[in-house]
Amino acid sequence: MKIILAGYMGSGKSVVGQELSGKMDLKFLDLDAEIRKQENLTIAEIFAEKGEIYFRRKEARVLEYLLEQEESFILALGGGTPCYGKNLQLIKNSAGATLIYLKTGLLQLKQRLLSEREHRPLIKDLGSPEVLEDFIRKHLFERTFYYNQSDLIISTDDKSVLEITSE
Ligand code: S3P
Repeated sequence: MKIILAGYMGSGKSVVGQELSGKMDLKFLDLDAEIRKQENLTIAEIFAEKGEIYFRRKEARVLEYLLEQEESFILALGGGTPCYGKNLQLIKNSAGATLIYLKTGLLQLKQRLLSEREHRPLIKDLGSPEVLEDFIRKHLFERTFYYNQSDLIISTDDKSVLEITSE
């Protein structure tokens, strides 16, 4: 069994994944963490030193490698993972994989991301809260097409991690 968590930056993929991992006694993997380990660089450093295209290619390769493994796990994707190349198709065609979209509303995302911008290269230079909100609105709109192809959609607004995990 492979449970794969998708959702925008700040939707809680890692926190929910870790909680679910304890609850289901399944190994937890974080795609960004796997990439960081292999590159020995932070995600921000990879973007700055090697560029986003390099990051996306690496992301696709690491995802493919993980999906080929026999073992069961819970995997938190990066916010952009299902929206690039063949990643979504690869996940959908992977035997035993269930893709879950953690759907978080614009205002909640904005609140969380305002204080967590530093290590996120795509938003770290967005100045005011208004500019950030505008960016998230358009970006989320573009990405929703991909997220919505998940097997299951769970709204996270006004829910605790425990409630989301149980659902
Ligand atoms: C990205 C989200 C990040 C990370 C990278 C790109 C994106 O992961 O993969 O900065 O394109 O939305 P989180 O969703 O865990 O922040």
